[in-house]
Parts: sequence; C-alpha cells; structure tokens
Amino acid sequence: MFFGKKKGLSTLEEVLESTWKLLHDGVRDFKNPFHHASLATLHGNKPQARMVIVREFSEKDRLLICHCDVRSPKVFEITHNPNVSWLFYDPKKWLQLRLSGTAAVHTDDNTAEAQWGKVRVHHRINYCAKIPPGSTVSKPTSGLPDLVGDKGPKILDGSEARKNFAAVVCRFDEMDWLHLKLTGHIRAQFHWKDGQMDASWVIP
Ligand SMILES: Cc1cc2nc3c(=O)[nH]c(=O)nc-3n(C[C@H](O)[C@H](O)[C@H](O)COP(=O)(O)O)c2cc1C
Repeated sequence: MFFGKKKGLSTLEEVLESTWKLLHDGVRDFKNPFHHASLATLHGNKPQARMVIVREFSEKDRLLICHCDVRSPKVFEITHNPNVSWLFYDPKKWLQLRLSGTAAVHTDDNTAEAQWGKVRVHHRINYCAKIPPGSTVSKPTSGLPDLVGDKGPKILDGSEARKNFAAVVCRFDEMDWLHLKLTGHIRAQFHWKDGQMDASWVIP
C-alpha cells in the first residue's frame, strides 16, 4: 500500500513503479478512477479537454491509447497539432497525474486493427452515427441508424462501425505526479529525452 497514511513513497523509483501499476490497473478495471482521463488537445491556440476511456498503457514505450470516431473534432485537432496532455485523478488516493506528449491517429494500419479487435461487439454501435460527432441537429438524438432497417446487419457485423473507428496513440515524455497529504503535499516530475530519463522532487 504505497499511498497509506503511515508510509509514503520515499524514492522517485517507487513513485514511477507505483504510477505504472496505477495506470495498468486503470486500463484493466472499469471501476478504477484511472480508467477514465481527461485528454486535452489544441484547436488552434484554444485548449480542448474531454474525458476518454484509457484502452491501453505501456510503460516501455510510454504509450496511452484511446478510441474514438475518426470524424470527431479531436481527430482533426490532433492531425493539425499532435501536442496533447492527459489528466488523471484518484480521489481516494488524493493523487493527480499529468502526462504530456504527442499523439497520432491510426485508422487503417496494424495498430488500428489490433485496437479494433478489442472493441466489444455491443460497443461497435458507438461508431455508427449517421452524421459526424459534433454536428448540429434539430432535436435530441444519438444520431444512430435504425437497427432493424437496411443497415442493421452491417452494423452488427461491424463493417459500418469499422469505417469510423480510430485509435489515438499518445506517447508521453513528461509526467507530473502530485500526492496531496495532510502533512504536506509531495510532487515529482519526470522527463524523457533521447532515451534518458530525468526525475526530480519539486515543491507542490
Ligand atoms: C466517462 C466518459 C468517457 C468517455 N470516453 C470516450 C472515449 O473513450 N472516446 C471518445 O471519443 N469519447 C469519449 N467520451 C466522450 C468525450 O468526452 C467527448 O464528449 C466526445 O468524444 C466528443 O469530443 P470532441 O468533440 O472533442 O472530439 C467519454 C465521455 C465520458 C463522460
């Protein structure tokens, strides 16, 4: 128990190891607060943040992956400016994690196929809106097609959804870790460059 009241993390290595575990646990467990994160992109010079589900994490390559509709504004934003930032918070552990780096959108390569393979059949419908996400409509609607109509079978076999599916793969090179504590908050920063990592404790 790294974040207990009695014992804190005493080395930067321990901070890193515990963070990797939190991110892995977040991917695995949909009830874990690290299962969702805020992903911020830039629309011109205007920041745009939204929640996404964290689908995969790799500490070896420092990757975070999420899924989205290829027609969504975030894809346009990443294509124009790959700089992104992720924000995680675990309220029980009083732990904030900020990660920043660059993102790439995958639609029809091995990465996209591998990620598409992880989308459960009943979640494919999320990629089937008839008009792009963010489009203005005259009444409240999901924009999903009629499942019993002509396109029903295609939706269920996934061919319609696959066309609109994208995997966003983010490689982070900066991490800011903040643990709130009654006895005084503790903060650490990590930077990766040219295969080297720099880490330091910083004043919160
Ligand atoms: C808890 C939660 C999880 C979400 N997960 C995703 C996700 O994994 N992918 C996604 O595209 N949108 C997800 N959304 C919706 C986005 O937050 C956002 O509203 C939508 O993708 C449109 O974003 P955009 O207009 O910036 O592209 C989620 C929303 C919530 C509240």
